[in-house]
Amino acid sequence: MIENPLRGSQWIGSPNFGGPRTSEPPPHFRKEFHLDSPAKRATLYVTALGVYECEINGQRIGDDVFAPGWTDYHKTVYFQTFEIEPLLKVGDNAIGAILGEGWYCGYIAWENRQGYGDRPKLLLRLVIELADGSHQEVVSDTSWKTRTGPILEAGFLMGEAYDARRELGAWSHPSYDESAWQSVEILKLGSDPQLLPQIGPSIRRMGEIKPIAVHKIAYWRGPIFIYDLGQNFAGRVRIKVRAAEGRTVRLRHAEMLNPDGGIFTENLRQARADDSYVCVGNDEESWEPRFTFHGFRYVEVTGLLRDDFFELVGIVLHSDMGETGHFACSNPLLNQLQSNILWSQKSNFLDVPTDCPQRDERLGWTGDAQVFIRTACFNMDGQAFFRKWMQDVRDGQQPNGAIPCVIPHINIHKVFDDDGGPAWSDATIICPWTIYLCYGDIMILKEHYSSMQRYHEFLLKHRCIGLIRSHPDIEGWLGYGDWLALDGSGDDRGSTPPDLIGTAFLAFITELLARIARILGQDEDGQRYSNLHHEIRDAFRDRFIGPDGLMLSKTQTSTVLALQFNLLTENSRAAAAEELISLIEKNAWHLGTGFVGTPYLLGVLEESGHLETAYRLLEQETFPSWLFPVKNGATTIWERWDAWTVENGFQNPSMNSFNHYAYGAVGAWMYSRVAGIELDLENPGYRHIIFRPRPGGTLTWAEGRLKLKAGYVGIRWEMKEDMLSLSLTVPIGSCATLDLPEGYLLEPANQRLEPGNYTFTAVRQQ
Ligand code: BGC
Repeated sequence: MIENPLRGSQWIGSPNFGGPRTSEPPPHFRKEFHLDSPAKRATLYVTALGVYECEINGQRIGDDVFAPGWTDYHKTVYFQTFEIEPLLKVGDNAIGAILGEGWYCGYIAWENRQGYGDRPKLLLRLVIELADGSHQEVVSDTSWKTRTGPILEAGFLMGEAYDARRELGAWSHPSYDESAWQSVEILKLGSDPQLLPQIGPSIRRMGEIKPIAVHKIAYWRGPIFIYDLGQNFAGRVRIKVRAAEGRTVRLRHAEMLNPDGGIFTENLRQARADDSYVCVGNDEESWEPRFTFHGFRYVEVTGLLRDDFFELVGIVLHSDMGETGHFACSNPLLNQLQSNILWSQKSNFLDVPTDCPQRDERLGWTGDAQVFIRTACFNMDGQAFFRKWMQDVRDGQQPNGAIPCVIPHINIHKVFDDDGGPAWSDATIICPWTIYLCYGDIMILKEHYSSMQRYHEFLLKHRCIGLIRSHPDIEGWLGYGDWLALDGSGDDRGSTPPDLIGTAFLAFITELLARIARILGQDEDGQRYSNLHHEIRDAFRDRFIGPDGLMLSKTQTSTVLALQFNLLTENSRAAAAEELISLIEKNAWHLGTGFVGTPYLLGVLEESGHLETAYRLLEQETFPSWLFPVKNGATTIWERWDAWTVENGFQNPSMNSFNHYAYGAVGAWMYSRVAGIELDLENPGYRHIIFRPRPGGTLTWAEGRLKLKAGYVGIRWEMKEDMLSLSLTVPIGSCATLDLPEGYLLEPANQRLEPGNYTFTAVRQQ
């Protein structure tokens, strides 16, 4: 057992705290200490319940934003470690911290405040090794002092209010007059969370965005300025202002504009997304909120007078995961789609993979994460990010084995028995499996195996009748269906039967469990899951396939799932694929799939020999399609195919996000088939790369790159008449095979490619 590096420290907080609907200004904390000789080494271990920023002698420590992130704080809290000796000096020193409510006690989703506790708390230990060989420690305890400062309110959903006239001066420097400060309280936690060193990437300021336009709306109380940043994203703005003392600049954030040019905020629901700054009135003042973020493209600025100077810049926040992917092709609309996917990923990867960054929701929806993870791991390095989230999933697992619909688990949707339902809770098996495939990471399978097994047992015991999952005779929650499918039902769950989706996913995850068991050397388990998989497949066939071998349910998603998960008999696959084509044709060559069917749609079409239909859907520009939003100026992925349409304008604002990555799951197909970077199930982590370009549609060229630990995988193809020229890069540590589209021949015939760069020209045979 490693000794707890935070030993001796106590959770401290302010004596004042808010209520379920009232917030309390973020408290500052301070403590002075004296060093007799220079510090040879000084290590700070620090964390908070809430979010924190630390300072020593007036200097900010680290550049993390919203540390220590979001977990189920009753179970796990991560701490950060900083080496800070250069910030210390011989003589008097001071250490300070500011705490925000963050996810711990701020508003979460559509709930009240104080989801995990009543007020933010700080836990800190500074260990100093002095030049004279002695040790000194500073810990959070009763000797610390606290007070509030210029931040009057700060929460993720509502925004931040700052009064610069209340700034505290040199509060984190020594020799500061703290007579107006109160004593802190030592706070006992109701639970005993494990304290672990941070394992995921920190959230950081990842970029700045300058406005592309400002327009002014005349209003009787003074002008309203609308700043357009040209990109929907998650973060906030930094402002510069020169105005009279007491002038209050108000900043309201929105993703879209109303037809009158004002900001559209109805889709934010209860999230006020409203920051404000009160000027001291000196020279130029600069401010950026600390403990809030918004999902927005537009900022409405009010409160300025004509002669006031004002400027703003967008600050992009997301988990610092490192971008690993690049995709481009000859259709500029698809390039914009790729950009939109990446931006929706950035906007929703703030410590937890969330559904959306703007409205009063921003939750770790398991289904969304599951459908998007493969794409996510092309765009960015997702290994550590998802390892952290899988720990959150384990923390959220219920005693009966159920996995809730959102992780970190919060007490909403209790009615659903804490089971998120098919394709949502199944993230508990699909996500570690995908991380294993993309990074060759067996650890994540090991860490999560028994949790997967308990989940699977729960499903068989409580969520199935026979082997039919989400059987209509089961009481309670049957799942979210094919969420937001536009397949004629008029219901957000679409019309694919819940038991069909449930049983198809049960078959899929059982097959994955069989594979995982074997990888982990659990051959007996592997055999058992394999047998079970066959039984589930038979049960699926009995119930959902007609005597003609085709699906009884005639939605696109029904057939897509049956083909994707190999649930049809071998000799009915081709006919089923034909039927899928006719369903698409009947829909005037448009998709009709929701969250569940969409990620697999193009892959299923391509693998069943209908590549041209796959491209027809991918490049479709009219609604519903991926490119319809692009054609209409989208810079991120919309939650709904019909989030906005020419005929109806905005969808019902009660659920209409313009920054939801789920439909961006098509990105994986663009990397793996349009460009052609595929992995090999038997040699995960791209140890064996399969270059599998599938040119089609209007495309004349495409390229993809993926950064691995040891270098880049790269491919670029160009098509001229019957000639397909290819440039390939195989990084050190990998080998590759080129899998050409049908009908193309290469001399010499397919060979194993060792690390290096290659160019080939393949010719189409007539
Ligand atoms: C979220 C989704 C989520 C869904 C569950 C919505 O409110 O935004 O993305 O998966 O609920 O069906």
